[in-house]
Amino acid sequence: MLKTQFLSYFTHWGYSKTQIFELNDNDILCDNTSSYIFGMQFFYILFFNLFNERLKAFGKSEKKIAIFAFLFSMKKIQMVDLGSQYQRIQNEIDEAVIEVIRSSAFINGPAVKRFSEKLSQFLKVKHVIPCANGTDALQIALMALDLEPGSEVITSDFTFISTAEVIALLNLKPVLVDVLPDTFNIDPQAIRKAITPKTKVIIPVHLYGQTANMDEIMEISKEFNLFVIEDAAQSIGSQYFSNDGYTYYSGTMGHIGCTSFFPSKNLGAYGDGGAIFTNNDVLAEKLSMIANHGMKVRYYHDVIGVNSRLDTIQAAILEVKLKYLNEYNERRNQAAQFYDKKFTNHPQIIIPCRDPKSTHVFHQYTIKVPAEHRNSLQKYLNEKEIPAMLYYPVPFHRQNAYQCYGYQEENFPVSNHLAEVVLSLPMHSELSEDQLEYITETLLEYFKIKS
Ligand SMILES: Cc1ncc(COP(=O)(O)O)c(C=O)c1O
Repeated sequence: MLKTQFLSYFTHWGYSKTQIFELNDNDILCDNTSSYIFGMQFFYILFFNLFNERLKAFGKSEKKIAIFAFLFSMKKIQMVDLGSQYQRIQNEIDEAVIEVIRSSAFINGPAVKRFSEKLSQFLKVKHVIPCANGTDALQIALMALDLEPGSEVITSDFTFISTAEVIALLNLKPVLVDVLPDTFNIDPQAIRKAITPKTKVIIPVHLYGQTANMDEIMEISKEFNLFVIEDAAQSIGSQYFSNDGYTYYSGTMGHIGCTSFFPSKNLGAYGDGGAIFTNNDVLAEKLSMIANHGMKVRYYHDVIGVNSRLDTIQAAILEVKLKYLNEYNERRNQAAQFYDKKFTNHPQIIIPCRDPKSTHVFHQYTIKVPAEHRNSLQKYLNEKEIPAMLYYPVPFHRQNAYQCYGYQEENFPVSNHLAEVVLSLPMHSELSEDQLEYITETLLEYFKIKS
């Protein structure tokens, strides 16, 4: 009986049956990092068995029992559950890491090339240049374009700081534009309005996992002879249905694309990592050189470069995880659909919009709630052991470090509004239905209490 429940429980949580039998037969319960969690889940099942009937007899609803019991389990809800994700592919990851250690090929080992080639095949892009992180990817991309100091680079006002940061670091001018209220992505009309004779580059950021309107952005770039660097740090695996009838992966339509393998990203390493994409052979060579101290031949430096390498251990891990990227993105979509179902038509919750031009990989599931509720809702969820984050509480144009550029408040009505109403809920490939049920019920309960 208990074994049956064990089985259904783990199946329910997404563990394969093989793993369940491994658990029973090989007694790994006491001998790995997951034993603690498994032990607590065992306790949860025991608890459920013992008290289920009693609580029912007391007239409690099944849902309440589930929530009550859930609170006793140690499967803590996290924004990103890297531990559980690791457990499902532990053998493969361990083997890949040990292989690197045994080979001692720590710098530019074979896994770096293998992973880059596999990613290039996956994304259907000609060149993948690995580097140390997503911020470096953006910086190297800009460095490869040989821009005059003071050249203007148009980017989104509402995203992570890396984009504006590297523009400013390279003595270029970050020209910030507003975003669209539904997709949160850069507004092509605002890009048009911001173009001056000094504009040289547009950096659209594909925020939260959905690709920006690349058809319009590429059209603008052709019209004004501008480079486009896509920031696909949050959108790896997202597909864009272009007006030319083809489907492209996010990050492969501009002159250069960049991504991050920060651990919480959809394709996350176990440390830092990044990559640059391009279909242009000349740019590819330059990007590789810049990432490698500006050299093609060892100790001969043709351009000023940086030291930005993807660590071999990270490449080996990413090579394993790339095989699961579609599955991870699918699981994120399933979690998003669960949230959608619970929140659709709620008068105070606006669910993320789906752009028909792009698939969504849900790096974040970000709802909009009335500004007067946002912070107290976040606090309420946190008190109930549900992490919820503000991505992003302050738009670029209001950041202290960027005041020297003299941005005008009236140009950013949407990003200012978003900064007050967005709330990102836990989103990763390992969310169980029990967790989703608990998160959604708790969130809905907040509005019931407050209304
Ligand atoms: C949109 C965006 N761009 C760039 C980056 C920078 O990536 P990294 O942290 O790897 O430098 C991030 C990472 O959080 C990001 O979300």
